[in-house]
Amino acid sequence: MSKILVTGGAGFIGSNFIRYWLSRHPGDEMINLDKLTYAGNLENLKDAEGKPGYRFVLGDITNVDIVRDLVRQCDLIVHFAAESHVDRSIIDAGEFIKTNVVGTQLLLQAAKDFDKRMHHVSTDEVYGALSLETKKRFNEASPFNPTSPYAASKAASDHLVMAYHHTHGLSVTISNCSNNFGPYQFPEKFIPLAITNLLEGKKVPVYGDGLYVRDWLYVDDHCRAIDLILEKGQTGQTYCIGGMTKSVNNLAVIKKILKLLGQGEEMIEFVKDRPGHDRRYAVDWSRAKKELGYRPEHDFDEYLKQTVEWYQKNEPWWQNVKSGEYREYYQTQYGK
Ligand code: NAD
Ligand code: DAU
Repeated sequence: MSKILVTGGAGFIGSNFIRYWLSRHPGDEMINLDKLTYAGNLENLKDAEGKPGYRFVLGDITNVDIVRDLVRQCDLIVHFAAESHVDRSIIDAGEFIKTNVVGTQLLLQAAKDFDKRMHHVSTDEVYGALSLETKKRFNEASPFNPTSPYAASKAASDHLVMAYHHTHGLSVTISNCSNNFGPYQFPEKFIPLAITNLLEGKKVPVYGDGLYVRDWLYVDDHCRAIDLILEKGQTGQTYCIGGMTKSVNNLAVIKKILKLLGQGEEMIEFVKDRPGHDRRYAVDWSRAKKELGYRPEHDFDEYLKQTVEWYQKNEPWWQNVKSGEYREYYQTQYGK
């Protein structure tokens, strides 16, 4: 039986991870430390509330006292908390440095002082961009070349994690994964933004020429990969985690969503491109396959369909998120 500190568990991937973990490891205890930024929403965890092993703590990973107190109580940290949206980092990178860099360092320091293991959830964006002209994929040996302030902050956090391992012998692992999709994803990200806009009768903004390629990973595959890393991963090791898609660009993704919703291509609106937009990401997950037995199990088309259906069935969830109503509710509950 383990006691796990999850940071950022009220966000998209963290909440899916908590649900995944509680169903597969029912004897374990989980503490979810989350600041409830605009991206954190306890509605994502309604089914975990009240379960004997689960506890929520409202707090900031840059608050040294909270972090040290909780790390001391746990056996293991799974660190999701971050500012995660590239477009926001282009507008203002300040919070990205505070949370993603300073917050990660405080967790590492506490893990070192109390001799705890830490798994750091990172991104394939630390490796920069691939071109459309090659078949190359990122792997664990790819050089870091982050291009957005978000990616740079995650790259800095990855370097800190490895520095604590090399200098202090801290027991760490890192996963660098591709674009996740699935239920409870905040509708600022491309897939849920597209689905919810279309459900509201609004057009979908497509940046630039729309020929940008992402390696879509269903969130449950990511959760299972982290589980495998915690069980079998080597300390000091990074694992690249990718999905099942073979080079699908944003226009192709939109066309699939339009088809699922029975709508036409007039709902696509080409808009100004994202500054510094990375052309392509693709992940080679062969190390994770060899060492952990990982392979993605969720087919992109099938789970895109299920994701569309989830947003259709859960309109009150995303309407609250889009209107900001969930924040007012938790401000009253927690005095934020
Ligand atoms: P998200 O934005 O949905 O959730 C982030 C969570 O962290 C929120 O609940 C937020 O309240 C919390 N948080 C933010 N700042 C905090 C702070 N200072 N203290 C405590 N909590 C704080 O993010 P996500 O998409 O679930 O991503 C989770 C992690 O996975 C991030 O580290 C991200 O970099 C990484 N990642 C995401 C993707 C993706 O496609 N979404 C892909 C690769 C890696
Ligand atoms: O690769 C992993 C990363 O994936 C994670 O580390 C990030 O946290 C996560 O946000 C995601 O980054 P992207 O920038 O790839 O995701 P986003 O959903 O913002 O955009 C996906 C693609 O869609 C990208 O090419 C930009 C494009 N896009 C996005 C939005 C929001 C549009 O064309 N229109 C849009 O309105």
